[in-house]
Amino acid sequence: MKLRVPAYIQSIKPYKPGKPIEELEREYGISDSIKLASNENPLGSSPAALAAMKDAMVRLNRYPDGRGYSLVEKIAARWGVSPECIVLGNGSDEIIGMLTRAILAPGDEAVMTEPSFLMYEIMVLSCGAAPVFVPLKSLFVDFDGIARQITDKTRIVFLNNPVNPTGTIVTKKGFEAFLESVPEHVVVVIDEAYIEFAKDPDCLQGIEYCTGKRPVAVLRTFSKAYGLAGIRIGYGVMPAPLANLLHRVRQPFNANSLAQAGALAALDDDAFLQRSVRFVHEELEFLYAGIERLGLNYFPTEANFFLIDVEQDADQVFEAMLRQGVIIRSMASYGYPRYIRVTAGLRKENETFLKAFATVMAKTGNVE
Ligand SMILES: Cc1ncc(COP(=O)(O)O)c(C=O)c1O
Repeated sequence: MKLRVPAYIQSIKPYKPGKPIEELEREYGISDSIKLASNENPLGSSPAALAAMKDAMVRLNRYPDGRGYSLVEKIAARWGVSPECIVLGNGSDEIIGMLTRAILAPGDEAVMTEPSFLMYEIMVLSCGAAPVFVPLKSLFVDFDGIARQITDKTRIVFLNNPVNPTGTIVTKKGFEAFLESVPEHVVVVIDEAYIEFAKDPDCLQGIEYCTGKRPVAVLRTFSKAYGLAGIRIGYGVMPAPLANLLHRVRQPFNANSLAQAGALAALDDDAFLQRSVRFVHEELEFLYAGIERLGLNYFPTEANFFLIDVEQDADQVFEAMLRQGVIIRSMASYGYPRYIRVTAGLRKENETFLKAFATVMAKTGNVE
């Protein structure tokens, strides 16, 4: 087929999601496999959200409220900001896309950590702009390194807190000192997809910086702690002038009506949120203990996933775990060729993971 495609689109490597369970079972002819690869909520979804979505189904012949009035009002009240500061998205992924489309022109630059969530790079490239990578320093954000990469061409800095895939955090103090050094026109995005799991009292909560004079945008999602990944809903909090730019490039009905209804109810279901967070913390402790028994190193996390140093080729461990019916993530493509990332699952799933992992590691001679 003859297509004329910009070189910057050709340069994009498509996002590779965690392997779906169905695909694994089809390919390997196995059953009862488990997936601890996409940082989802193992407890399911808020029952209140499910009930609200069921009720909303009778109105599926109608378009959703394009601005998402009720959900926007509730989110704004939750954070004590004006509704003009909220933009809903088809997942926070979509807000990343709206931000890049609204801000970046070909030749501009966006600075991000390496590794970081792959959608930042993909969205920046799709605008013809250039991602500029700053390696993490001992798994933490290197603010001095980021500041050094900011030039006249920089339009956006992407931060992620806690960081995917390391589970480390950005502190309030570290962020404030950094923000001082950033030129005032540069949009600072803080992606807080996993913030509900963070326990460290020094962890930055970005929303308090979103209503000032600086263009700071915080991304939140219902996909993780709220257990609504499948329905696709997230939001951005940012100064109204920046939000207005996003509305110019936003599809008119981007947040679907079921998602709006589910998210609205989920925000009131604090019991489910608290139960989910507590559960993840307990299961992480269970997993840590299992890894310690194997004599391997892991990195304690502030999110719902953590890294393990498998002391050998992580891609091979990933493959061997697939054969055991367990989907995790190899971090080789994230620049950590010896690390795997594991999401905390249900107790039974975590037990299955530990058993399979012990088998795989014993076979490769790394543990007794
Ligand atoms: C850091 C980070 N940001 C954003 C997202 C996307 O979330 P959503 O489901 O809201 O699009 C993810 C999903 O894995 C993520 O890890």
